[in-house]
Amino acid sequence: MKFFIDTANLDQIREAQDMGVLDGVTTNPSLMAKEGITGRNNILKHYVDICNIVDGDVSAEVISTDFAGMVKEGEELAELHEQIVVKLPMIKDGVKAAKYFADKGIRTNVTLVFSAGQALLAAKAGATYVSPFIGRLDDISTDGLNLIAEIRHIYDNYGFETQILAASVRHTMHVIDCAKIGADVMTGPLSSIEGLLKHPLTDSGLAKFLADYKKGN
Ligand code: G3P
Repeated sequence: MKFFIDTANLDQIREAQDMGVLDGVTTNPSLMAKEGITGRNNILKHYVDICNIVDGDVSAEVISTDFAGMVKEGEELAELHEQIVVKLPMIKDGVKAAKYFADKGIRTNVTLVFSAGQALLAAKAGATYVSPFIGRLDDISTDGLNLIAEIRHIYDNYGFETQILAASVRHTMHVIDCAKIGADVMTGPLSSIEGLLKHPLTDSGLAKFLADYKKGN
């Protein structure tokens, strides 16, 4: 399973990259705003800065909601850097744009997916990634992980190549459960990746090894 980090914070991206386990980055307009990145030019520059830190795919989201606008914006984003993946919303024009970009060989990530039907449409349109938001489903008492399992089942039935990018991952158990189900990618905060390190027996075991070494030296 690929690990993407879901942030526009360059320090956190660097930290995950330095750990050696990062495969890409996802961003969205809210995450950009959280870092105080505003204005078209600053946002575009920030995407390039992110691409220069990581080796993998970087999702850059369009803000247009009509087909022509998405195509114009998406082409501009794709031109920025070879690692850019154009992120499109799961609306009718977004599906149309995903098909347009697939035909042109431009990679896409269809986002704001909350149902198996939406994921099926994204795959039919030839999206590179589909982003079901598991945390936001959990927030409304709906099983987000169940959606990942449903999409996995459907995609495997037909051999769809669209990669399931489990998004809105909030914690380590989401990561582990996504891996069990067979999501292709998960994107979450740095804490969801670093949390995987933690085990008290590792800490106590290491402390004992070091203490025993000191006794003999
Ligand atoms: O990857 C989608 C993500 O940015 C949404 O996460 O935590 O705001 O639901 P969250």
